[in-house]
Order: sequence, then structure tokens, then C-alpha cells
Amino acid sequence: MDYSIEITPLEKLQSDCIIVGVYEDQQLTPAAMTLDNSTQGIISNIVSRGDISGKNGETLLINVIPDSSIERILLVGLGKKESLSGKNYRKALAAAINSLKKPQIKSVACCLAECDVTAGDWQWKTRQIIEVFSDAAYQFTELKSDKETESKIERVAICAPQSESALAQAGMEQGRAIADGVNLAKHLADLPGNICTPTFLAGQAAELGKKFDKLTVSVLEESDMEKLGMGALLSVSRGSRQPAKLIALEYHGGDKNGKPIVLIGKGLTFDAGGISLKPGAGMDEMKYDMCGGAAVLGTFLAAAQMDLPLNIVGLIPSSENLPDGNANKPGDILTSMSGKTIEVLNTDAEGRLILCDTLTYAERYNPDVVIDLATLTGACLVALGRVPSGLLGNDDRLCNELLAASETATDSLWRLPLWEEYQELLKSNFADMANIGGKDAGTITAACFLSRFAENFRWAHLDIAGTAWRTGQTKGATGRPVPLLCQYLINRTPKA
Ligand code: BES
Ligand code: MN
Ligand code: ZN
Repeated sequence: MDYSIEITPLEKLQSDCIIVGVYEDQQLTPAAMTLDNSTQGIISNIVSRGDISGKNGETLLINVIPDSSIERILLVGLGKKESLSGKNYRKALAAAINSLKKPQIKSVACCLAECDVTAGDWQWKTRQIIEVFSDAAYQFTELKSDKETESKIERVAICAPQSESALAQAGMEQGRAIADGVNLAKHLADLPGNICTPTFLAGQAAELGKKFDKLTVSVLEESDMEKLGMGALLSVSRGSRQPAKLIALEYHGGDKNGKPIVLIGKGLTFDAGGISLKPGAGMDEMKYDMCGGAAVLGTFLAAAQMDLPLNIVGLIPSSENLPDGNANKPGDILTSMSGKTIEVLNTDAEGRLILCDTLTYAERYNPDVVIDLATLTGACLVALGRVPSGLLGNDDRLCNELLAASETATDSLWRLPLWEEYQELLKSNFADMANIGGKDAGTITAACFLSRFAENFRWAHLDIAGTAWRTGQTKGATGRPVPLLCQYLINRTPKA
């Protein structure tokens, strides 16, 4: 989709459909009023007949407008005027764009950035339009014979008055970058495990590196990992015929000597569980176990596109987890890069094994903060469902900054405790620690495990098992938490 900011008066706009809002009390948005005046009251007529009540997310397409050059008008319900929250604003936008999946509609003009949203200014609202519209337009068609997409919309004009056009413009730049990052993350995640292998992922990262001067990408091979003593990471890939990769991205946008923000993403391209094999039902969804890695790549694309004046390092440990004669076995004891030993009580708790060596490796970048993102535990779905990602960490300031960013980005987070009492659940009779903590508090014990490798820096962990993809009828990747991470990075940008 091609986005632009439009300051031309509504009556002169060339567009297949103009999108305007209606509130619950039959009040029209300013653009709706303007159109109403130039169409002999067609909108107020429809509203007073009760054909649209203005409830949030309701839509009504007026597809013939007599004696007018306007092709179509889409009325979108916004709910109560005083309480249009960020979430509801996005809900209305999604309803609008989803109702326009028609072959005749190739261009739209969206006049919803003028609504009063409690959460944001023109920049924020413009950005949300682009994020929500792009999200709705995304379809994975690459591996289908019929590559037609439902939405035929090519051009989106976002209407803004001259006085707000600079803010809208800035929002558009951010929105495009974030939407591109989300799209990349979704696309990589939707690719199946037989295509998206660790080698493929490393290739994608290298491609990304070629696109931006400030971005360099390198890949550690298994032989490099052996030299570094990454016994935990390597143990997971021993059961796979695909070689593991540790992908490293370095974006230099900030001070030459500025400490980097390090993002670590779990890049497990397929998780069968290993010898502790998972049940068959729904196992296909374990192709999504690389969503953390995909989100790191998406965030780097967005950050580079926004040309953020920050130093950012991305680390993606990538492997498969399969059963094999050479795979990890329950009871095996590994020596991690840190020197700490780990008893493998369940080979399906592999994410923490590839992440722990990566956390140790991150120390060499002298990080300002380290944020890891991983589809780490099914327990996170039990605790929090599919609404917020789980947040745990060893630094309150960092956690609070992430919570604030999640609010702004409407990419929600919920913090769980990382208390000492839970650490005891990881006791092993034979090694420094076990790789699982038993039935209770699985998301917390997983984070406790990681915390032992994150003692030397400020660190936060995002468990995205419930948020990185949708299951069921609309199965597919969501691109989360790219919007959250982008917002965090934007917030970290030094103010001029
Ligand atoms: N990749 C899974 C976590 C997962 C499960 C994500 C379901 C999304 C949906 C992870 O590697 C895993 O298997 N974790 C185990 C840990 C357990 C053995 C302690 C789990 O959650 O069952
Ligand atoms: Mn697993
Ligand atoms: Zn996994």
C-alpha cells in the first residue's frame, strides 16, 4: 500500500472511497459533516433513520451518491466521543479497512486522524492508521497457486489540515517503517520450517544488512560456537540436520562509543520437542518458535528505515529441536558458555538453552540494556492468554519503560514477578541447575533460568508465546512485539 498525507479539501479528493466517522450519539466527525453538507444531507439522513448507531466498529458503505463526484463514503462507528481509547480507535480502523475488501476499491481517503483519541496526537493517529491498514492487508500467498489478495487497495490518502500536516507526515514515516517491520516478521514466521531454516534466516538477515549502510550482519557457525564453549546452544542443534546459526546484527546510528541496546530473539525454526516429543495435535504451529528472531529482524528493518540515532545489536540464536539418535536426552548435563552446568530434565525446554549462551555472548557488547523475546512457555498462554506478552526482568526502570512503550504502541505487556523463592524450583541434584522447574509457574521459572545468565547487565525478558501468532481459523503470525520494540527505541532516542 502506498500512503500519502492529503491536505486538499474533501470535495476535490479523487478516491474510490472516503472514510469518515460517526459517534454513538449520532454526532458526525468534522469530515462527515463536510461531506453531509455537500451531499444534500445523505449522511445525517442515514444516521437519523438509525441505519448506523455509531457503535464502535460498526460500518456502513454508501455506494451511490447522487449528483456528486464522490464515489463512495464509508461510515465508521467510533463509539462514545468522550472515551475513544487507543484500543477502540484501532478497532474502528480495522473494521473500516476490513469492510473494504472489494475489487472495485483501489484507493481510499481516510479522514479518521481528526478524531479525538485519548491516547494520541496527529502523529500517533496517522501512524496507527498505517499500522492497522497494513496489518489488515497482509496475506501469506507466496506458497499458494492463486496469489490474489482480498484487499485491492493500492493507495491510502490520510486527510489532514495544513496545520497538522507536519505531525501527520512524521507519523506516516514511522507508520511505514513499523508496518514494514511487522510485515517482515509476519512473513518470516508464516514460512514453514522446511523453508525457513536457520540457514535461511541467516540469509534473510544478511540481505537486510545489504540494504542499510549503518547495518552490518555477521553469522557465527557451529565451529565458532564450539570455540566459544556454547555447549547449551549446540546441544539443541545436535538432534537436527540443519546447522545452527547465531545471527548478529549491529546497527550503528548513535554515538560512536555509546553503549548499545541489545535485542535477543529466539529463532527456533521448528520445535518438535526433541526426545521429550510434543503431542501431534497442533505441532505445525511450532514453526512459529522463531517469532522472537523474526521480530528482531523486523525491528531492525524499522529502526534502520527510521534512521534512529541509536546503537542497537540484535542476536538471534537459530536452530531446530528434533528427536534424533544424537539429540539431547533427559538427564544429560551440559556446560554452558558461562561455565554453569545444566541438567536437561525435559528436552522440550530448549529455548532457554539456546538463549542462555546468547545472553552470555551479549556481554561482549557492553550493553546498556538487554531485552530478549521468545516464544518460551506454553504456561504463558495459561497465565495471560493471547492479549499481553509476559514481561519479567531484573531492572524496574527498564521494565517500566517497556510497559510505557507497550501502552503507546497498543502492544500490551503484563509484568510477572521474578522473586527469589521461584529460583529454588530449578535445583538439580547433579548440576548447577535443571532446565525446568516443574509444573508450577512455568513462565516465571523459565525467566528465572535466564536471569542466571543476565546478572551482569540490566535485562528484561518478553514471553511472546501467546501473542506472536493467532491460532484457529485465522492462524498466522501477528508481528508482535515489533510495534512495542519500535516504540521503546523511539522513546530511547535522545531528544534534540
Ligand atoms: N516453544 C515452546 C513454548 C510454546 C508452547 C510456545 C506452546 C507456544 C505455544 C517451548 O520450547 C516449550 O516447549 N516449552 C515447554 C517448557 C516445559 C517443557 C517446561 C512448554 O511450555 O511446554
Ligand atoms: Mn520446546
Ligand atoms: Zn520452543
